[in-house]
Amino acid sequence: MHRTKKEQEIIDGLKPVCICKGIKARVFQERVKAGMITVEELKKATGAGSGSCKGERCTPRIREVLEKYGHSGDLKDKVR
Ligand code: FES
Repeated sequence: MHRTKKEQEIIDGLKPVCICKGIKARVFQERVKAGMITVEELKKATGAGSGSCKGERCTPRIREVLEKYGHSGDLKDKVR
């Protein structure tokens, strides 16, 4: 079955990103669309990374969300 880009985005949005805090990818997708492009910005805005694993599990997943929108997730991209 072929999915449209929008359908795939909705499906991706249901995936858990920060398991400790129960935050799904959709929350990060919305923030990225609003202009946040670094991992640190997304953590601060959502509370991700402040759970018991201290971001060990969700940091790579947050970066994956950013990469899907063409961002590396690093601060250096913001200052260019
Ligand atoms: S999964 Fe995000 S703080 Fe643990």
